[in-house]
Amino acid sequence: MVDSFVFRYMKEEDIDQILEVEHASFATPWSREAFYNEIYNNKFAVYIVLEEDDKIIGYCGTWIVIDEAHVTNVAILPAYRGRKLGEALLRKMMTIAKEMGARSMTLEVRVTNHVAQSLYRKLGFQNGGIRKNYYSDNQEDALVMWVNI
Ligand SMILES: CC(C)(COP(=O)(O)OP(=O)(O)OC[C@H]1O[C@@H](n2cnc3c(N)ncnc32)[C@H](O)[C@@H]1OP(=O)(O)O)[C@@H](O)C(=O)NCCC(=O)NCCS
Repeated sequence: MVDSFVFRYMKEEDIDQILEVEHASFATPWSREAFYNEIYNNKFAVYIVLEEDDKIIGYCGTWIVIDEAHVTNVAILPAYRGRKLGEALLRKMMTIAKEMGARSMTLEVRVTNHVAQSLYRKLGFQNGGIRKNYYSDNQEDALVMWVNI
């Protein structure tokens, strides 16, 4: 990853750009209020952004509860995908979660999202169970994945 990319914690001023990433990435994007609440009202939430020259390229969010980190979201702007940036972002989040005391990381992913599943497997995630009808837009099942960190 080239030096012009930096990781830092998300702040309120980022939300406009985060919403652009969000709407380009998810069928049911989170709202402005959801991100505001994560930044100010959720003491378990840790959100990082990947930035290049003040432009937010991607972000990743996690809830860290005692020794388990639950990834809520990870996304990269479409024009920047396929350059190992999503991998770098998730690796960074794994490092932060470990430093904060997490010993495992888990997430849900759409059963049809093979790109994301491939990324997670590359980073050592294993298949857990299936959560039936987890996604409200199309009742798609979620695959639970987890990894020790
Ligand atoms: C999932 C996502 C974050 C991956 O980001 P990315 O920067 O494009 O991925 P990277 O370039 O870092 O690729 C890392 C690994 O992901 C997998 N991957 C990435 N693009 C892929 C593709 N087009 N097809 C298959 N696997 C792919 C591969 O395992 C890849 O490793 P490799 O290059 O050694 O094969 C990105 O596709 C995205 O934002 N998708 C929309 C949002 C989303 O689905 N988030 C996950 C929700 S659970």
